[in-house]
Amino acid sequence: MAHDHHQHEHRHGHTHGHDTDIDWNEMGPLLETQAELFTPVYERAMAWLAKEVTEPGLIVDAGSGPGVVTCLFAEAFPGARVVAVDSTEPLLERARARAVRQGVADRFDTLAGELPGVLDELEYPADLLWASRSLHHLGDQRAALAAFAARLAPGGTLALLEGGLPTRFLPRDIGIGRPGLQARLDAVEEEWFARMRADLPGSVAETEDWPALLTSAGLKHTRTRSFLLDLPAPATDRARAYVVAALSRLRQAVAEGVDAEDRATLDRLLDPSDPASVHRRPDVFVLGAYTVHTAVRPVW
Ligand SMILES: C[S@@+](CC[C@H](N)C(=O)[O-])C[C@H]1O[C@@H](n2cnc3c(N)ncnc32)[C@H](O)[C@@H]1O
Repeated sequence: MAHDHHQHEHRHGHTHGHDTDIDWNEMGPLLETQAELFTPVYERAMAWLAKEVTEPGLIVDAGSGPGVVTCLFAEAFPGARVVAVDSTEPLLERARARAVRQGVADRFDTLAGELPGVLDELEYPADLLWASRSLHHLGDQRAALAAFAARLAPGGTLALLEGGLPTRFLPRDIGIGRPGLQARLDAVEEEWFARMRADLPGSVAETEDWPALLTSAGLKHTRTRSFLLDLPAPATDRARAYVVAALSRLRQAVAEGVDAEDRATLDRLLDPSDPASVHRRPDVFVLGAYTVHTAVRPVW
């Protein structure tokens, strides 16, 4: 399958010049750490999907990033071919290397290009099309969902992971700075997200009623469920590394939106030599929730 073209068209961070542009290649390690940490969530979501999707021949991961979840699909559905689709070729390289490491490379393809148009290059209709936190990076989400739906085999399932809850890492009062830091960061991140969406090429404002949007794409909404990740303190090294990476990214992307005291607190939280930092404090945890919506293409 083709994976050597389109990859630089419209790449965020290189062609538009908005402060909300994302360098997905640079985000690769964080996406990978996050998806690895959230693996129990994906495994439970896949077991839940397997009740509806029986023996899929082709699974498409639209906006796969580094392919952690694509590889989990290959493991959960051993009879399926899986295709990781993304516009960032270096992330697809990571995906292919992972597929080799996990022994699923013989059933694993990648396809590089801009969603949703690149899906036209798929050779077969999908029995399961999974889009996890990728749809909201496309300007016209309604049109993209219609294009996703058009790539489904009759009776095929579209599974959309969008929304849930902002992931929390720390108690409300952490003994330094003003209590409630993460809630304030969440609020700034919401503002950033709105600007990010508005800055996308062809951006269309849309009410985020995902079941209604799936229905308007000609599908039958079947189920919605949220999956919880609950990793209590004391955090493992892996969980702590993720918290460090996620807070560093927040420090970069949204810290200008909070006041000087909160910025100073963030700096302390990220300073490895500070006993109050997330590198060393004992109360760090990871609590998150992801919501998945499924919808089926009618057979007639
Ligand atoms: C937030 S990441 C999600 C990755 C993965 N699905 C997950 O849930 O961890 C969004 C992914 O969508 C990809 N992406 C963003 N805009 C895209 C576009 N217009 N066409 C194709 N892929 C795109 C990015 O390269 C990135 O890998």
